Amino acid sequence: MSVESVRGSWSNRLGFVLAAAGSAVGLGNIWKFPYMAGKNGGAAFIFVYIVSVFAICLPIVVAELMLGRTSRRNPVGAFQSLRPRSFWVLGGWLGVLSGFLILSFYGVVAGWTLDFMLLSASGSFSGAGGAEIHALFDGLVGNAPRQIFWQALFMVATIIIVAGGIASGIERGSRILLPALLLMLIGLVGFSLTLSGAGDAAAFLLTPRWEEFSGESLLAALGQAFFSLSLGMGVMITYGSYLGSGESLSRSAFYVALTDTAVALLAGAAIFPIVFTFGFEPAAGPGLTFQTLPVAFAQLPWAGLLAFTFFLLLSLAALTSSISLLEVVVAYFIDEWRWRRVTAAWFCGGVTFLAGVPCAVDSAWIERLDALTSNYFLPIGGLLIAAFAGWVLVPAEQESELGTNVLTRTWRFMIRWVSPAAVVAIFLSLVLG
Ligand code: PFF
Repeated sequence: MSVESVRGSWSNRLGFVLAAAGSAVGLGNIWKFPYMAGKNGGAAFIFVYIVSVFAICLPIVVAELMLGRTSRRNPVGAFQSLRPRSFWVLGGWLGVLSGFLILSFYGVVAGWTLDFMLLSASGSFSGAGGAEIHALFDGLVGNAPRQIFWQALFMVATIIIVAGGIASGIERGSRILLPALLLMLIGLVGFSLTLSGAGDAAAFLLTPRWEEFSGESLLAALGQAFFSLSLGMGVMITYGSYLGSGESLSRSAFYVALTDTAVALLAGAAIFPIVFTFGFEPAAGPGLTFQTLPVAFAQLPWAGLLAFTFFLLLSLAALTSSISLLEVVVAYFIDEWRWRRVTAAWFCGGVTFLAGVPCAVDSAWIERLDALTSNYFLPIGGLLIAAFAGWVLVPAEQESELGTNVLTRTWRFMIRWVSPAAVVAIFLSLVLG
């Protein structure tokens, strides 16, 4: 049997792009991007973010896909097969470890979105005031068994999809979930635009306020682009390893980046009209999603339906990201330990679930694990990947099918100089700042 038929593969380019975009589109786009734009000068942040996505991160997406496709392996196996017995394999190990750690807390936060869906459906938000909604959220975060229940449910859904395989599990799930998410998001944007705060929101999102944009904002924009594209931990290496040899890497990577950016912008367009209509603070920070928005929903017609749609959207976005996190770890056990996919999915998912339990008991663990992975593991992983693809692989290994020669030469320059320098800058700012 060929490698493809043993490991599985995407059925076509659309299937791959939907799965990879599903990984990229997550809590980072809908929950994190709007409040970061709110805090860092609106359009100024958006402008720098878009430049970071396309000029700095896109070459790394291509590099990860390239490493996956040439080696047809998980992140550890990819480095090992391309440069046996070299220290570069650390990049792969870091990826598998990051996938495991990120998923352990991601599952808990995704569980919150399921809990809030139920609260919306049961009418808890209708007519509720700020204090009541804060109490609802505190009640959830202070209740470990309730969080563990939702985390378990979310993890089981993640495991079932990953256990289903590449084309019939991950791809099929993403083909349904991502378009559903886009439709709901567009619906929410349509609704938000009818609100009286829409004009103020548009002014806020389209006028750059450079005076609110600091050096730190620049690095925040770069870091967010990095996290949002699921870069630096081998998701794209793993997904690229199931990609047919005829597909153009640069084009696929471009579609993924475009979808990811469009969803972040749409999320901003859905959220800010609500924020301005009710006179909330656009720079409210991380609480925007779980505390501020439900207060706004509660005062609108169809409060329950609106809140339910929003939290359903968040949980679907989280699900297509969590399957990619689990797949990195599962692919390692399938390739290197010859485990069956179903066994690997339930074992890795089960252990990850247990590792996440402390986050449900004490939410300070979420912040600790998030800081460790986002601030250290992902930038270091991204740097190793860029350096390896740009400096270690010889041109013959840097596949020729990037398209034209001009494109290949541009990519080589970016991956050697621009992307690593930017990642080092992010890393230094986090260490020194
Ligand atoms: N890209 C996801 C988001 O924006 O929420 C989060 C994520 C998924 C980060 C997978 C890293 C990763 F490997």
